[in-house]
Amino acid sequence: MAYTVGYFIGSLSQKSINRTLSKALIRLAPDSLAFEEIPIKDLPLYNHDFDADYPPEGRALKEAIERVDAVLFVTPEYNRDIPGALKNAIDWASRPWGTNSFNRKPSAIIGTSPGKIGTAVAQQNLRGVLAFCNSPQMSAPEAYLQFLPGLITEDGEVTDPSTEEFLRHFMDEFALFVERVLTVLPRP
Ligand SMILES: Cc1cc2nc3c(=O)[nH]c(=O)nc-3n(C[C@H](O)[C@H](O)[C@H](O)COP(=O)(O)O)c2cc1C
Repeated sequence: MAYTVGYFIGSLSQKSINRTLSKALIRLAPDSLAFEEIPIKDLPLYNHDFDADYPPEGRALKEAIERVDAVLFVTPEYNRDIPGALKNAIDWASRPWGTNSFNRKPSAIIGTSPGKIGTAVAQQNLRGVLAFCNSPQMSAPEAYLQFLPGLITEDGEVTDPSTEEFLRHFMDEFALFVERVLTVLPRP
């Protein structure tokens, strides 16, 4: 069974190490997963006045999530939380009330930082947000990656064999998780 994964990069930076990580994850993922980026950079800041007439950027985001079978968050940590741009995108996708695009959509979270705890706190906070959005989340393995210089090349090649094996395992487990969730609990 093949599944399409929409991936969110939580960083808007041109030089994002999380974008580099996403390239490695796509390279290492099993053939049963296909990937589409879900862009967040052009979204205005959400407020509920938009609900009466959702703008094209908000509609495009929701349609992109609805097209995919599962979502993957590859995010930095900003001040021990997820970046505002990513939270804004999640808020857009969760509304208007009653049309939450994450409802029953399987998800996984991963992130990297130059610091030793590798986005652990941001990831825990994101888990709370996604729980409220009723997204079944892969709880294990967790992946908190310290990005040391040269760990992943610009093209997404992982230079350290144990990290490569760990990331491959993460993606294998994600594929199994998506299959399990969508087999047991198909989305309406
Ligand atoms: C506003 C800001 C806040 C940050 N806060 C954290 C933090 O809480 N934890 C952490 O590990 N790194 C933190 N960093 C450093 C980021 O991990 C680092 O800039 C990383 O490259 C961001 O990921 P990106 O390259 O994918 O954008 C912060 C960086 C910025 C710009």
